[in-house]
Amino acid sequence: MTIAITGATGQLGRLAIAALKARGATPIALARSPEKAADLGVPVRTFDYRSADPAALAGVETLVLISSNDFDDRAGQHARVIAAAKAAGVGRIVYTSILKGDASPMKYLAADHIATEATLKASGLPATILRNGWYTENYTGSLGAALAHGAMIGAAGDAPLSTAARKDYAEAIAVTALDAAHAGQTYELAGDTAYTMADLAAEVARQSGKPVAWVPMAEADYAKALEGFGLPAGFAAALADSDASAQKGALHDTSRTLSRLIGRPTTPFAETVRAALA
Ligand SMILES: NC(=O)c1ccc[n+]([C@@H]2O[C@H](COP(=O)([O-])OP(=O)(O)OC[C@H]3O[C@@H](n4cnc5c(N)ncnc54)[C@H](OP(=O)(O)O)[C@@H]3O)[C@@H](O)[C@H]2O)c1
Repeated sequence: MTIAITGATGQLGRLAIAALKARGATPIALARSPEKAADLGVPVRTFDYRSADPAALAGVETLVLISSNDFDDRAGQHARVIAAAKAAGVGRIVYTSILKGDASPMKYLAADHIATEATLKASGLPATILRNGWYTENYTGSLGAALAHGAMIGAAGDAPLSTAARKDYAEAIAVTALDAAHAGQTYELAGDTAYTMADLAAEVARQSGKPVAWVPMAEADYAKALEGFGLPAGFAAALADSDASAQKGALHDTSRTLSRLIGRPTTPFAETVRAALA
């Protein structure tokens, strides 16, 4: 089976390629800058979401479409990729969407995923929708600042956060891309065990031996703080909205679908903290 994967040079794409290789597959890496994919040890084709040349998808049976990290017309980029897949005769698309899809309370970040799920449905192409919850690394990526200031800030309050490590979601990509029986399925993927930001701050303090407090903020104040760190106003508002949406259950899931798919428990948040502090 010929599998190709977009976003191959990104953090999730790299882990998905490793997970596919570990299962004996040799996927094709699709990258807008092929030189960045040279170390992946798999065939590389040039592919940009914006131009989406169907020729790059020749012979591909299953296309893994990792959502773009470019928020300038992200849904349009995905639609061009889906149209190219159809033109090239791709048999199935595996798409990385967002937890809860059209039921997500997130105002901004969910919109492109909802649009892309609709585009996929309208295309008639068999699809597997992986509705990914948050990566634990979204929080552990900024532990340096938390340790420097002795505080973690955000608008999630005491919301339950069912996050999982990127490598867990990457394995779900490999499992579902390799088995056509997942066609037509939509999976809600998240960590097995929920925690709160206060739990996370306490764990960082425990492992680092340094004081780290959880400082909950109102959504508008958190957006202003993010702007103060240099984020563009629109992106700061989207991140603050996604954080506050956790209080409406946006990041909570008890289905354990991810661990069932990958055949092992999801990575505990304490382990991701340990890796980040190492
Ligand atoms: N669930 C979550 O918690 C969460 C968190 C953050 C993001 N996400 C979403 O999940 C996706 C994967 O996460 P990640 O951590 O792997 O993100 P990432 O490391 O930022 O990787 C994004 C990938 O998209 C590629 N890309 C961007 N614009 C492109 C274009 N026009 N044409 C072709 N490729 C393009 C990048 O290529 P280059 O290497 O050339 O830049 C990179 O390979 C993100 O893109 C985002 O949509 C989810």
